[in-house]
Amino acid sequence: MRIIRSKAALRTLTDEWLRGGETIGVVPTMGALHAGHLSLVGEAKAKTDRVIVTLFVNPRQFNNPDDLENYPRTEDSDAIKLAPFAVDVLYIPDPDQIYPDGFAINISVSGVSEGLCGAARPGHFDGVATVVSKLLLQTAADEAFFGEKDYQQLQVVTRLAKDLDLKTKIIGCETVREPDGLAMSSRNLRLGTEARKVAPVVHHVLQDMAGKLSQGAPLSTLLPDAQQKLKAAGFGTLDYLELRSAEGLDPLETADRPARLFIAVWLDGVRLIDNIAIPAT
Ligand code: PAF
Repeated sequence: MRIIRSKAALRTLTDEWLRGGETIGVVPTMGALHAGHLSLVGEAKAKTDRVIVTLFVNPRQFNNPDDLENYPRTEDSDAIKLAPFAVDVLYIPDPDQIYPDGFAINISVSGVSEGLCGAARPGHFDGVATVVSKLLLQTAADEAFFGEKDYQQLQVVTRLAKDLDLKTKIIGCETVREPDGLAMSSRNLRLGTEARKVAPVVHHVLQDMAGKLSQGAPLSTLLPDAQQKLKAAGFGTLDYLELRSAEGLDPLETADRPARLFIAVWLDGVRLIDNIAIPAT
C-alpha cells in the first residue's frame, strides 16, 4: 500500500490505471478506522480493480471546534489496519491539496441536506459535499463506498454525484454493528466505560419502534415511550427522532412508503447517530 499526500502523485497513478482499463474504487474516511470502514474496503476490493482509501479530517464539516479538536487522529494504526486488505493507495492529502489558498467553492445540496443532522449541525453537509466532490474528482473513482449509518450523508452524496454528472457511482453499504447492536463509529472511542454499556439502547429503541411502525403505528404515538426509555437509560439531549422517506427524506408520520427512522442523541458528551429501515406497511 502506497501512502500518497499530493494530488499530482495520485493523478499520475490513476491516469496509468485508467489507461490500462482498470476500474477505481474509493472509500472516503476521516480515519480512526473501525470494522465498519473495513467492510467498505472489502466491498470496494470485491467490485473494483484498484482501491484508494482517503483519510482527511475535513475541518469544513465540523460546526463545533471542540468536536474537530477531539476527533481521533490515528494515522499509523489506520495504515496497519488496512494492510491485510492490500489496498493500492492510502491517500492522506495535505490540507492545501484540498483547500488551496483562496479556495472559493462551496457545494450545497438542497432538499436532502435539510433537517436531521443538517438542522442540528449547520454547514455540516456543505462541508461534506464540498470535500467529497473534491475527493471523487482527485481519485477519478468509478465507484465510491459509503456506510448507511450516515444515511443522510449517503443521500447528499448520491444527489451531488447525479447533479454534477460525476462519473462516480455511489454505493451504499449496510451499517456494521458491535455484537450488542451499537452502530460502529469513530466517536464510540470517546464513550466512557459506563456510557459504552448504555449506548446500545439507541439501537434497541429503534428496533422496537421499527416493529410497531411497520405494523402501521403512527410515529407520534411511539415517541413518548422512546423518549422515556432514553432518559431512564441516562441519555442527554435528543437532537431528533424522526421518520423520513428512504428516498428524498420527506418527513412522515406513518411508514406508508419505504422509510427510515433516524436518531441523534447525546451520551457522555458524545453525539450518537443511528437509523433503521422500515418496510412500507
Ligand atoms: O463519513 C465520513 O467519514 C466523512 O463525512 C467523509 C465522507 C469522509 C467526508 O469527509
